[in-house]
Amino acid sequence: MQNSRTPKLTVVGAGPGDVELITLKAIKALENADVVLYDALVNEELLQYATKAEIVFVGKRLGCHAYTQDQINELIVSMANRYGHVVRLKGGDPFIFGRGSEEIEYSEKFGLETAVVPGISSALGVPASVGISLTQRKVAESFWVITGTTSSHELSKDVHLASKSAATVVILMGMHKLNEIVGIYKTNRTDDLPIAIIQNGTKNSEQKVVGNISSITKLVAEKNISSPAIIVIGEVVKNTSKLTSYFQEHFEDEFIFQNLNL
Ligand SMILES: C[S@@+](CC[C@H](N)C(=O)[O-])C[C@H]1O[C@@H](n2cnc3c(N)ncnc32)[C@H](O)[C@@H]1O
Repeated sequence: MQNSRTPKLTVVGAGPGDVELITLKAIKALENADVVLYDALVNEELLQYATKAEIVFVGKRLGCHAYTQDQINELIVSMANRYGHVVRLKGGDPFIFGRGSEEIEYSEKFGLETAVVPGISSALGVPASVGISLTQRKVAESFWVITGTTSSHELSKDVHLASKSAATVVILMGMHKLNEIVGIYKTNRTDDLPIAIIQNGTKNSEQKVVGNISSITKLVAEKNISSPAIIVIGEVVKNTSKLTSYFQEHFEDEFIFQNLNL
């Protein structure tokens, strides 16, 4: 049986937002935690499982970081040495644009035991929850998951490469770069390529908009969609059961129920 005072870090994925989209293993880790350090995208209802833990918010709200990454790293080590089991609860999957691996690397340097509990990343879970299949036979053989904001605050150059392929492209942290993304697709592909944007996916506050490369910026402004949001670009967006009414309305002539023939 594990000694709860052994300094240990478990990096845990909380899933995309819906409280039921967390794993049993993650819940067990929360129940066992002496300390929980959690991020802004985590659904706070999940903290109810951490019945015996000290709970600390270390995320970013209204553009301000409660703690820098260096401070979080130090907090993990000091809390683990003082209390035992630290759970670092992160939105989605901790290894998808989550800096989970950096926290593990730092903690291991200070002798902490470490473990990872994967989570459902918003990159996969949010499109699936609105019926978008990222791969589809005869439509998309692959998908890219790309950051819209690199460490130098720029759009990843991979968007240029991906836009030239037939792959489905999922962009995280890309809302501030939407105009740039649209420009790249206009140059490299076609104006009528379908695109969906989902804000607060799987949460009660979810909002989504579906259009094509030429219409999306106007639609986003009309519906006031902003971060945190997932951008999904590709033909698969059109072959989506839950979005059929939109496409019947806007793409009547070319609409084909390909998704029913998989
Ligand atoms: C720092 S990244 C973390 C991603 C996370 N590790 C994951 O696997 O989902 C934060 C970005 O993920 C996306 N995101 C996370 N949760 C989301 C949700 N529920 N709905 C839409 N986008 C979400 C947004 O693009 C947001 O800006």
